[in-house]
Amino acid sequence: MKYPESMIQKVSLRKCKDLYQVAIGNFALFSQTQGAHWNYVGLDFASLHVLFEQQYQDLYLAVDLLAERIRALGDAAPLDIMEMSRELEQIPWFESAKAQGASRQWIETLIRNHASFRVLLNSAITTYSDSGDSVTHDMLVARLMFHEKALWMLRAVSYGDADA
Ligand SMILES: [Fe+2]
Repeated sequence: MKYPESMIQKVSLRKCKDLYQVAIGNFALFSQTQGAHWNYVGLDFASLHVLFEQQYQDLYLAVDLLAERIRALGDAAPLDIMEMSRELEQIPWFESAKAQGASRQWIETLIRNHASFRVLLNSAITTYSDSGDSVTHDMLVARLMFHEKALWMLRAVSYGDADA
């Protein structure tokens, strides 16, 4: 049986809304973590430069996985960075890094954004669990593991300054 294209699109868009927001948020965290990798200044620069690199590389790979999962479900993945930037402005949880005078603020901002993203991920995990989409569910659980590990590591180097 061949379903009308409009019906497929309608169902897919509804199914992928949460996943789309996860992809956008993931990209924002990727970009901010790479910014920290470039701009961080401090006596602990060398170790944090490496830590941020490991994290942004993981986030970069995840963008591709998330976007391709959206495509596999029949929806449109983000087109380009301009679309992602516009969408991100509609997401209230993401805190911009601004021009960080004190580099330790990078870590605190990243901690708050990872913590907020974890809430978004948990919500999406519930959505895909309820809908029986175990592939997307398991993919998001794997992403949640990364963000919880990132939170642990960032808190470990924050001297306990961050409270997120
Ligand atoms: Fe680099």
